[in-house]
Amino acid sequence: EDLDLGGFPHYMAKEIQEQPESVERMIRGRLDDRFGVARLDGLNLTPRELRGFSRVKILGCGSAYYVGQIGATMIEELARIPADAEAASEFRYRNPIIEADTLYIAVSQSGETIDTAFAVEEIKRKGGRVAGLVNVVGSTIARACDGGVYLHAGPEIAVASTKALTNMAVGFAMIALALGRVRDLSNADGQRIIAAIRALPGQIKAVLDTEPLIAEHAKAAAAANSLFFIGRVRGYPVAREGAQKFKEISYRHAEAYQTSELKHGPLALIDESLPTVAVVPADELADRNLAAVQQIRARGGAVLAITHEDVDFGELDVPRIVVPRTEPELDPILLTIPLQLLAYHAALTLGYDIDKPRNLAKSVTVE
Ligand code: AGP
Repeated sequence: EDLDLGGFPHYMAKEIQEQPESVERMIRGRLDDRFGVARLDGLNLTPRELRGFSRVKILGCGSAYYVGQIGATMIEELARIPADAEAASEFRYRNPIIEADTLYIAVSQSGETIDTAFAVEEIKRKGGRVAGLVNVVGSTIARACDGGVYLHAGPEIAVASTKALTNMAVGFAMIALALGRVRDLSNADGQRIIAAIRALPGQIKAVLDTEPLIAEHAKAAAAANSLFFIGRVRGYPVAREGAQKFKEISYRHAEAYQTSELKHGPLALIDESLPTVAVVPADELADRNLAAVQQIRARGGAVLAITHEDVDFGELDVPRIVVPRTEPELDPILLTIPLQLLAYHAALTLGYDIDKPRNLAKSVTVE
């Protein structure tokens, strides 16, 4: 087992560090620079069929569901098709309406999550078309889908998922490209996104280099009984995933909110004892995000920002973890990585069993 760890103290640490190569594997042979398009033959969909979908519905559980939300936003932005993500565990219990012109996407690392597998079965029974975004080759969900895109993340052992989630997000960017390029997305925009996808492995390395700084901040985060994780639009599923990872392995209460919703209630909880991790990318919402950070600081709440170099925090006394900029549509991919390291180092500080957190299984195969 030690050999498999390759010198790392935990599988989670190893899997976080593997992300640059894991993303390389995900994109290898799938990007066509000349035509600005992703070639996803495994989807088994012709350009005409891809053009025929008027909606996308993404289904997954836990972190896979949150990455599904990241994917839905990418698809809406790049392909301009209505897209949303839903917890597969809820979907299958509400007699969902299955539409022939909807592309359903099931997303799962293990391919064995029972709630997601049953959602696929329900869609197929009612005549829907399901694509899989799955890591484990030949798994139940992969076999049940009409086609799909394998994640090629390699084996993921730690219960807290990291590299598989990153590859899911990259997979959604490629699916968004495939759907976009048979619609309105221009060749130039396709090429812009492809160049950005190709740069991701190097940029992920740069984020991983900030680990010592993140480890310092994790000590303070571990000392709090409760934390907020906030973000909006592209940043909101990043905050949800950050809170999820933190809860899973540090056993601290961590709650994600849309930054815009703070003032509608949760701001009442802010004081010196409740720190906030704020996702503040240099996008069209940066000023609004900064205003929310200012409101938290004014009430004595500590803030750690996950942000870009060119966001101007002015006089705000806020420590920052800076990630490289990519194309705005892909920002969530890089913004999520520091939150993996934050959770990891908080759990390390607290001395918990990082790879096998209490009460959790790597894949939930029973109801
Ligand atoms: C992630 O850190 C979690 N352990 C969990 O939410 C997981 O993503 C979820 O159970 C779905 O698993 P799957 O991707 O194997 O379907």
